[in-house]
Amino acid sequence: MTAPHVPVLLDEVMAALAPQPGDVIVDATFGAGGYTRAILDAGATVHAFDRDPDAIASGARFPETGENPPRLILHPRRFSEMVAALTEAGVARVDGVAMDIGVSSMQLDRAERGFAFSAEGPLDMTMERAGPNAADFLNGAPEAEIADVLWQYGEERQSRRIARAIVAARPLSTTTELADVVRKALGYRPGAPKDPATRSFQAIRIHVNGELNELEEGLKGAEAVLKAGGRLAVVSFHSLEDRIVKRFLREAAGATAKASRHLPEAAAGAAPTFEKLSKAIRPSDAETLRNPRARSATLRAAIRTAAPVRKAA
Ligand SMILES: C[S@@+](CC[C@H](N)C(=O)[O-])C[C@H]1O[C@@H](n2cnc3c(N)ncnc32)[C@H](O)[C@@H]1O
Repeated sequence: MTAPHVPVLLDEVMAALAPQPGDVIVDATFGAGGYTRAILDAGATVHAFDRDPDAIASGARFPETGENPPRLILHPRRFSEMVAALTEAGVARVDGVAMDIGVSSMQLDRAERGFAFSAEGPLDMTMERAGPNAADFLNGAPEAEIADVLWQYGEERQSRRIARAIVAARPLSTTTELADVVRKALGYRPGAPKDPATRSFQAIRIHVNGELNELEEGLKGAEAVLKAGGRLAVVSFHSLEDRIVKRFLREAAGATAKASRHLPEAAAGAAPTFEKLSKAIRPSDAETLRNPRARSATLRAAIRTAAPVRKAA
């Protein structure tokens, strides 16, 4: 048995979303349904998304899926397809969108999913359990592309050295083989505080699942589906993700780029689509102690204004 996923920053996310009875809220990343449970308990209806069929299967056990009409509607899709999925479900606007980016404990802890370097499993790492996986990428991509992925998504300074070692060791088929190749390439000494394979695994996972593009599209989707006064709460787990959320909200809230300071106000950009609710929120020491996976989390939250969706630049 794997430990259930403990929701991160749950109280803070609920305070930001403030769900009311009768509200319609999108949980873009259902996972184990920790946020969904709390939103349902507040009396709201939830449209929950997850690209992982295992997560959706566990959601089907929530009694609210069987209410008439159901208060939990599950969408086995990517949250980048939020607008299309809600339109198909006859929902035009929602009162809140929650996003809790990244992988769940169930995904990380099940060796057969291939996300963890600490347990032997196939080199899969797909959230959908389908499509090109980590083995396809590592065994097929040119060395320079592998190095770019490690550099961009893992901020790995030794990306070229690791990519060379991966190519020399091909074909790779298990997580432990990959972890050993990375550790050897970096001259890792067992017992060092942080396993150097962490960065490479993160990078490969982000690449295989197109996670940063998903986040950008999901944020745009939230802007499109939230009604005026609707609330957005996004929890991210590393600086690459947080940078995207921060930039999106800065631009949406109308803090225009430096260059536009010299432009007349009308030319400075469209009307703000969001107002920030608060500064970035980090977990308390008590939460990090209770749930070490919360330690790198950041919550950013905002309220949708009545302004029309911004046009793509
Ligand atoms: C950190 S977990 C969410 C945990 C959840 N908040 C809870 O309390 O149980 C992230 C979940 O989002 C899903 N996910 C990640 N990216 C996604 C995407 N682009 N579209 C849909 N689901 C996604 C993952 O499959 C995973 O189940």
